[in-house]
Amino acid sequence: MGLLGPNGSGKSTALRTVAGLLVPTVGNCRVVGVEAVSPAARAVTGYLPESPRFPERLTGAEVVHYYAGLSGLPAAQAPHRAGRVLARVGLAAAATRRVRYYTKGMMQRLGLAQALVHDPKILILDEPTSGVDPQGLADMLEIFRQLKLAGRTLLLSSHLLDQVGEICDRIAILAKGRVLFTGSPAELTERRNDREGFTTEPMSEACRQELAEWLRARGHSLQEAEDRPLRLDRAYLERLRDAGLEERGEP
Ligand SMILES: Nc1ncnc2c1ncn2[C@@H]1O[C@H](COP(=O)(O)OP(=O)(O)O)[C@@H](O)[C@H]1O
Ligand SMILES: [Mg+2]
Repeated sequence: MGLLGPNGSGKSTALRTVAGLLVPTVGNCRVVGVEAVSPAARAVTGYLPESPRFPERLTGAEVVHYYAGLSGLPAAQAPHRAGRVLARVGLAAAATRRVRYYTKGMMQRLGLAQALVHDPKILILDEPTSGVDPQGLADMLEIFRQLKLAGRTLLLSSHLLDQVGEICDRIAILAKGRVLFTGSPAELTERRNDREGFTTEPMSEACRQELAEWLRARGHSLQEAEDRPLRLDRAYLERLRDAGLEERGEP
């Protein structure tokens, strides 16, 4: 499931609540049937924060080791699991390097490694691909696909709408703390017929001319015919605009 929304709409807050790091003042948040703040929930969730920071003096392997312990993984299993997960995110060669020398992209990879080390059922990823280079992005998306195939649940926020559309079965749009839309990417991009236009299956040029004539005979004109699928990012911006919540840098 992908969480979309302008900056400040509450995505990170929602994800932190699901990760059990924030306790809601109103309502409650349950994960696999238990309170999100409970150790039982912590054991089945992995969390990648928005800008992961780790103690700079530790090596990548030590960081993952440490987080393995926090998520309740038995100490005997930790070194093996840490090694495997670091290889999976492409940090095997950098495992013994201190985090101080990691690039932003490597920090994201390390953040993903610590979230994955205990093989959680649910992964909570806050803008996982931010600051990651194109190769890193492709690697990450491949890992997400594999996790999905393996039956894991991914709950992620992102501004990369096309990637979200490709990976997510469901999308929620948040704006000012409220859910504007939930549904599949296809449902989000489904064009609605309105006064300005309508959508058809792709049509031939001959067919288009026929349509123009049909309209002309009835006092209308075909003003614009566009031959492209509605992109997810445009559909998303249209939803915000319809709700009067355009993303224009307002507080
Ligand atoms: N449900 C909420 N109740 C109260 N404050 C909230 C809520 N959701 C978000 N906020 C506040 O709004 C601000 C932005 O939220 P954040 O989750 O960081 O947004 P985003 O990750 O979408 O940019 C934060 O200061 C946060 O404390
Ligand atoms: Mg955020």
